Amino acid sequence: MIVIASENGRVGIAEAMRVLRCGGSALDAVEIGIRLVEDNAEDETVGVGGIPNLLGVVQLDASIMDGRTRACGAVGAVRGYVHPISIARQVMEELPHVFLVGEGAERFAAEIGAERRQLLTDQAADTWRRRMLEAMSAEELARLAEDPNLRRWVAVTMDPRLAGGTVNFIAQDAEGNIACGVSTSGWAWKYPGRLGDSPVIGAGNYADNRYGAAACTGLGEMTIRAGTAHSVVLHMQMGLDVEEACRRAMNDLQELQPGGGVDILALDCHGQPAAVTNEEVGDTYVVMTDEMDSYEVRPRTLVPPLV
Ligand code: GLY
Repeated sequence: MIVIASENGRVGIAEAMRVLRCGGSALDAVEIGIRLVEDNAEDETVGVGGIPNLLGVVQLDASIMDGRTRACGAVGAVRGYVHPISIARQVMEELPHVFLVGEGAERFAAEIGAERRQLLTDQAADTWRRRMLEAMSAEELARLAEDPNLRRWVAVTMDPRLAGGTVNFIAQDAEGNIACGVSTSGWAWKYPGRLGDSPVIGAGNYADNRYGAAACTGLGEMTIRAGTAHSVVLHMQMGLDVEEACRRAMNDLQELQPGGGVDILALDCHGQPAAVTNEEVGDTYVVMTDEMDSYEVRPRTLVPPLV
């Protein structure tokens, strides 16, 4: 049994492993691990405390995939519900659909009794307001919701360094089943309704018991273009080891212009993990197997841009 996660998953990985040790499924482990990150108000990229969109509204995206069946569920642009990962799981389990967004996702969340929460923290609201006032006047900010040309502010308010924080969890349970989950508040101060790769199956999340699973953090505008998570799993299907599969998928991204920072996390069907980044030496991920008392922080392999 093993659980791996992006570095910000450290707050949930031990509980995810406890679930596996108690006989829970990989899906259960992924969901509980991510819920703990969504509850962590100090994480500015996931759940409560997430950075809001251009209008100061937190919109959350998440997806979950079951490697046994390739069943999956996803939600996008959800407001007012703290655990989009659990809503995504219920989409997978209760509906004949895969993907709900916006009002429909919120309606479904209400139907299933999902937990409502004020997602915008005072700190995130202050940061948003300060950032907007660097770009516009107080009068323009007061009228922003009615601005007929909202798109003009996107470029001036976005910060590429805040573009793609997200949490990834991948787990393999005692029966060898693999599940993968992703949750995010998305690109800081995004245009309302923007979806990244996190809820897009094949881009930010993919799991297949036969080969393995992969998930992404970073600039979703990149990995959507390349279908990165599915690429990693396809490379494993074609016989590459998990690290080489991640490298090949990252190399596909490195050709894209404009480029941007992406991290990939993957696990093969034998329980071997790998993680790569195209950003900085020093990026890490977390790993916990059933033989460990606590999680380990491991370095991601740097896959530098192609020259
Ligand atoms: N990878 C998260 C996003 O682009 O929203």
